[in-house]
Amino acid sequence: MAQVSMKVDGVVYEDHVEPRTLLVHHLREKLGRVGTPIGCDTSNCGACILHVDGESVKSCSVLAVQADGTEITTIQGLADGPELHPVQKAFREHHGLQCGYCTPGMVMAAVDLLKNNPSPTEDEVRHGLEGNLCRCTGYQNIVKAVLSAASEMRGEGPIAGSFQDAPEPAGASA
Ligand code: FES
Ligand code: FES
Repeated sequence: MAQVSMKVDGVVYEDHVEPRTLLVHHLREKLGRVGTPIGCDTSNCGACILHVDGESVKSCSVLAVQADGTEITTIQGLADGPELHPVQKAFREHHGLQCGYCTPGMVMAAVDLLKNNPSPTEDEVRHGLEGNLCRCTGYQNIVKAVLSAASEMRGEGPIAGSFQDAPEPAGASA
């Protein structure tokens, strides 16, 4: 067993872990931070993305011992008390989710994307989120939510409209 210390969502945790324990398992099973889901066993879905020292990381591809001494923010620590982060608000307002399974990873990846590029184009958002898979194929509203959050965070206000403005799927009829 190895001793690890990490600050997770503002709280310092000291623990002993097996050297092979993945960070996502440590967070979920030992620390009860179950807001970060596991969506695959191939490190390609992005559902488990969180921030380690401010950078997006797939927590299923990192060992808990590698996170020793770091500061971690999960989806559960993103809001400022009762005040949702602008990206969280935009996902809600633009219906950027269906089942919600991919949402924690999408939101955390989007926050990192906007930190590095506060004025992304639609293409840049799509490119920036290409490591995140949504099995409900809700990409249209996810992209719109991220663009709206970017506008809000630049002080230009959210993009008007809601998910109802999204184009209907091919074949849909009134
Ligand atoms: S659970 Fe980590 S990438 Fe899928
Ligand atoms: S909303 Fe269901 S997987 Fe993305």
